[in-house]
Amino acid sequence: MLNVSNVDLYYGAAQALRSVSMQANKAEITCVLGRNGVGKTSLLRAIVGQQAIRSGEIAFDGHVLGREAPYARARRGIGFVPQGREVFPLLTVKENLQTGFAPLKRSEKFIPDHVFELFPVLKTMLGRRGGDLSGGQQQQLAIGRALVTRPGLLVLDEPTEGIQPSIIKDIGRAIRYLKEHSGLAILLVEQYLDFCRELADKVYIMDRGEIVFEGKAEDLDRPEVRKHLTV
Ligand SMILES: Nc1ncnc2c1ncn2[C@@H]1O[C@H](COP(=O)(O)OP(=O)(O)OP(=O)(O)O)[C@@H](O)[C@H]1O
Ligand SMILES: [Mg+2]
Repeated sequence: MLNVSNVDLYYGAAQALRSVSMQANKAEITCVLGRNGVGKTSLLRAIVGQQAIRSGEIAFDGHVLGREAPYARARRGIGFVPQGREVFPLLTVKENLQTGFAPLKRSEKFIPDHVFELFPVLKTMLGRRGGDLSGGQQQQLAIGRALVTRPGLLVLDEPTEGIQPSIIKDIGRAIRYLKEHSGLAILLVEQYLDFCRELADKVYIMDRGEIVFEGKAEDLDRPEVRKHLTV
């Protein structure tokens, strides 16, 4: 489904990704873990087309994405929930969700029911401004907006960051539901180990721009694996 091979990415002279290779498959949750600044967001920005890569290849559904722009990748079915959520503060919840219509055909420009089934709070707040929502509600809105684009691959960058535990649980349930019921490929970047441990089918750990471990969620209990994550 998603196939990243030997990707190098630079910011000027600084190399942020070093020959990164990884895959994410349909109906699976793939988790990328790593400390601050190891290149997790850079990897996701390369996948969604927000940052150009120097070398290597990223393919989605058999198409090599090359220099394709983010909107073209969204149209192919890559949905993105960015770190920090990037909700539009002055738009209403409904308008924020409608920004997800951009890559869709006319007949698909509606908000699918499962968005409100997964996050009922959004339905009750449709007329409120994005900026008036709590952090956890904004995170649910950002995920809802990505789902409006009808993704085949949902990419989430630290969805639990700064969110209260009860909403983290709701988000975890939603992610698992999406995997089981809609067969989405889910690529989840996290620093919250227990969240990944519970959800992931496959785990990658990054350190200083490289993938240093690939395995299963259970492997996160092994001390030699955990050492990559402790400061
Ligand atoms: N736009 C940019 N220009 C220059 N350097 C950048 C830029 N974005 C990130 N970097 C650098 O690239 C490296 C990787 O950053 P990145 O944001 O990918 O890490 P991260 O793993 O997502 O970190 P965090 O856990 O804090 O979100 C860091 O050293 C960072 O300072
Ligand atoms: Mg990041």
